Amino acid sequence: MTDRYAVIGNPIAHSKSPEIQAAFARQTGQDMSYERLQAPLAGFAATAMRFAREGGRGANVTVPFKLEAFALAQARSARAERAGASNTLAWRGTHWFGDNTDGVGLVRDLTVNLDVSPAGRDILVLGAGGAGHGILGPLLATGPRSLVISNRTAARAEELARLFAADGPIAARTFAELGATSANLTAVDHADATALPWPETVFAPGALAYDLKYAVEPTPFVHWARLHGAARAVDGLGMLIEQAAESFLLWRGVRPDTAPVFALLR
Ligand code: ATR
Repeated sequence: MTDRYAVIGNPIAHSKSPEIQAAFARQTGQDMSYERLQAPLAGFAATAMRFAREGGRGANVTVPFKLEAFALAQARSARAERAGASNTLAWRGTHWFGDNTDGVGLVRDLTVNLDVSPAGRDILVLGAGGAGHGILGPLLATGPRSLVISNRTAARAEELARLFAADGPIAARTFAELGATSANLTAVDHADATALPWPETVFAPGALAYDLKYAVEPTPFVHWARLHGAARAVDGLGMLIEQAAESFLLWRGVRPDTAPVFALLR
């Protein structure tokens, strides 16, 4: 019987995950289907549990449900525990197991696909949503010189800086304090494309700007970063493909080759 998987989010119509997972399944000869599920904003847990009852074996979880997916999971990987957010669920017969492959996906895209090592860099993380939670541990594990996290709601950034203090040199700053911050690797997890409320001076010479979101056109942040001195600015398609490969590995026990999938999607 074909095993069922899905990506759950709201909105979900434009997600590229089904295309990516279908390509992985073809490449590795796995008998599985992968669909889009839009959960009501107040109905994530009910949607995920119904999917499991109907035979769902695993799910990717995207905006705005990664924190709720973490809360729903009754067992979790160490990296999900650390992140406090889950982008990957696997059904374990009686309950959902929660993992987080966002951070490893970002680090893999940086190091393998973009040839950029975060080690020794001054990193700035703008925003502290579901994806932002996932990347802090894996970024700190690479050994940056510093990592500043800044968020509109300053308390969320302060809380994350406290949680990850043992993992490396992390500090929280308010947006107003960013005037003195210049980073050579900036990752942005930002929900509102109409407001880019940061000083234009955050990019050090040679800086790479990375938008965790992806789009067909350059994202507003990618456009803004190029205008204000980032040497390179990319969106999160690479992270999306790499986190998908890690999820596929968790579900199916095989790691697909991501290179051909880039060619398919760009
Ligand atoms: P999640 O990823 O958990 O669903 P989100 O609602 O998508 O979270 O928000 C992602 C990030 O965008 C958050 O850091 C959010 O800041 P707050 O924690 O202060 O809500 C940020 N964000 C959303 N709208 C924003 C805006 N107009 N200006 C600045 N930051 C904004």
